[in-house]
Amino acid sequence: MALKVTVVGVGLVGETIAHCLKERNFPCEWPPRVAATRERSKILAGESMLVEETTENVFKGADLVLFAGKEGARGASVTWRKTAEDAGAICIDNGRDFRLAADVPLVVPEVNADAIKEGVRFIASPNCSTIQLVVALAPLYKIERINRIIISTYQSTSGWGVEGPEELRRQTPAALESLENIAFDPKVFSRPVAFNCIPHIEPFMEEDYTREELKLIYETRKILGDQDIRISATAVRVPVFVGHGESIWIETERPIVPEEARDILRNSPGIVLMDDLTGENARSDENERNYPTPLDVYKYRDEVLVGRIRKDTSCPNGLVLWCVSDNLRKGAALNVVQIAEELVKKGILKP
Ligand SMILES: NC(=O)c1ccc[n+]([C@@H]2O[C@H](COP(=O)([O-])OP(=O)(O)OC[C@H]3O[C@@H](n4cnc5c(N)ncnc54)[C@H](OP(=O)(O)O)[C@@H]3O)[C@@H](O)[C@H]2O)c1
Repeated sequence: MALKVTVVGVGLVGETIAHCLKERNFPCEWPPRVAATRERSKILAGESMLVEETTENVFKGADLVLFAGKEGARGASVTWRKTAEDAGAICIDNGRDFRLAADVPLVVPEVNADAIKEGVRFIASPNCSTIQLVVALAPLYKIERINRIIISTYQSTSGWGVEGPEELRRQTPAALESLENIAFDPKVFSRPVAFNCIPHIEPFMEEDYTREELKLIYETRKILGDQDIRISATAVRVPVFVGHGESIWIETERPIVPEEARDILRNSPGIVLMDDLTGENARSDENERNYPTPLDVYKYRDEVLVGRIRKDTSCPNGLVLWCVSDNLRKGAALNVVQIAEELVKKGILKP
């Protein structure tokens, strides 16, 4: 019998969840039940669906609830988690609210599917920038412990939700006329985002780090199961629609040479290595290299793309790399659907 799935939230992530469930033939009743703050109909996964207002009713009979609503006190999972669990559903949450709770597994299936155990009721999916970071680093960590990580992100506007790309689209024509005094909505981004880079994602918190930067630190430690990794992060919003880039520096216990890192990552799940001399993106110049950019996510929609692997010439055990991934798919919706697939594979959810 097909599983009964309820998706709460039909913004960028909820919409992408519907696509992923359909594309991957997830064994659920189709269409899934979908809910948001208010009732209307909406095209999801190419079909018109009834979006219900989220009330107790949408959780009745559900085997699986996928939360893709907003976070915080009035957000979807904080408001509805208990109702969904009481109705007997297993929940998977995209938001930050429960990610660091000791009794909530924080899962990226390629990295720590073993954190999903029989009896689990609620699972969190990490922040988009954390997911691609750990997919790229976990295979290296298995070979050599990583002592230290310094990461800078280049995060697309869709990471903010539906209003992010709208801001970029709205500002671009005005910015082409004049780069001075571009009108912007400070409730979305703190500065104009068109033709700009904003080193400020989410509020400033302890030690002047932003919440987005702290997520990268705490979530990475939890997923890799190592609270002692030293991590410093800088998260930057860039004028890209979809696809986050990350510049990653690591220091390992003993050195990993770039060729070894390439061999490891070439054969690791969820990764496409784009670091050869003549790859498809490289220009004909013999000194060119292939490497991923955010526009590559329109072709490689599900993977973490890794390139620019090189030795840190200033530090004996240092290695530098660059990765790109689709923040709405692997960074959110796809990861959630892959977690759901693990629940089925392990017999915890039985279609
Ligand atoms: N965007 C990303 O790249 C990304 C990556 C990883 C994780 N996430 C997380 O995924 C979640 C969804 O993000 P998004 O980008 O899809 O946001 P979004 O585009 O702003 O959509 C949010 C959706 O949640 C619904 N919603 C808000 N509060 C709700 C509530 N209390 N009850 C029920 N529904 C509620 C909204 O309903 P209405 O449509 O009725 O307004 C909307 O459909 C967030 O927690 C976000 O942090 C996002």
